[in-house]
Amino acid sequence: MKKMKQDGEKLTMITAYDYPSARLAEEAGVDMLLVGDSLGNVVLGYDSTVPVTIDDMVYHSRAVKRGAEHTFIVTDMPFMTYHGGIDETLKNVRRIMQEGHAHAVKMEGGMEICLAVESIVKSGVPVLGHIGLTPQSVNQIGGYRIQGKDEQDARRLIEDAKALERAGAFGVVLELVTEEVAAEISRQLSIPTIGIGAGRGCDGQVLVYHDVLKYDSDYREKRFVKTFADIGNEIRRGIREYVQEVKSGQFPGKEHVFHADDSVVDSLYG
Ligand code: KIV
Ligand code: NA
Repeated sequence: MKKMKQDGEKLTMITAYDYPSARLAEEAGVDMLLVGDSLGNVVLGYDSTVPVTIDDMVYHSRAVKRGAEHTFIVTDMPFMTYHGGIDETLKNVRRIMQEGHAHAVKMEGGMEICLAVESIVKSGVPVLGHIGLTPQSVNQIGGYRIQGKDEQDARRLIEDAKALERAGAFGVVLELVTEEVAAEISRQLSIPTIGIGAGRGCDGQVLVYHDVLKYDSDYREKRFVKTFADIGNEIRRGIREYVQEVKSGQFPGKEHVFHADDSVVDSLYG
């Protein structure tokens, strides 16, 4: 990944939460998958990532791994699972790696988590940092807003990013950071930055699967997202049509049924 940065090749990352999303993303040629704790919002229906547990992350990581055996998988450490003692942190990391089959973990925070990052890296597990808007601290930050707007905030973000690099992180996610500050961090680090709402100067980009595909029933456009497909509407349309056809007796039709004298009775396909 450092090599891609040196060569100026942009890194691509998308979230995945289950077998089909992982499989489709791998087939589409994404560089890395993130089993994000955003699954709390987009898959489990919570209104933040705070309720997500290690069990949730393990369960979803295993499914992603089965769908994408040839892609580098990073799994989020959920809320409050890396803030106790080092022993407890490593126990949680072990579960993500051994039971979830991830290749790396991601953690939110700057200098304050660098001791944990160092211990995890020393144990042989690659760590992806995550600074800027860190959704696990939303109750402290007081909402989802852009980071790095004033001088002091900008300086802190740059110092946090450098501290994560020193602690051994292999990259840093920058979420909702001004383009200027994100570009400055990207220049100062030798490890890649992966931006989400952090502008054009980052070494790579990450987006949430459901945002890229408009995979939601009440999707609200976000400025930093580009929707590349609209599957939410397509799913609703398909299911509505299925319901209508069953009600009207149009489905199943004669081509969908089986008879004792069929020539190929044992095949479900074709
Ligand atoms: O959980 C997630 O999807 C994330 C990305 C937004 C970076 O952490
Ligand atoms: Na996350």
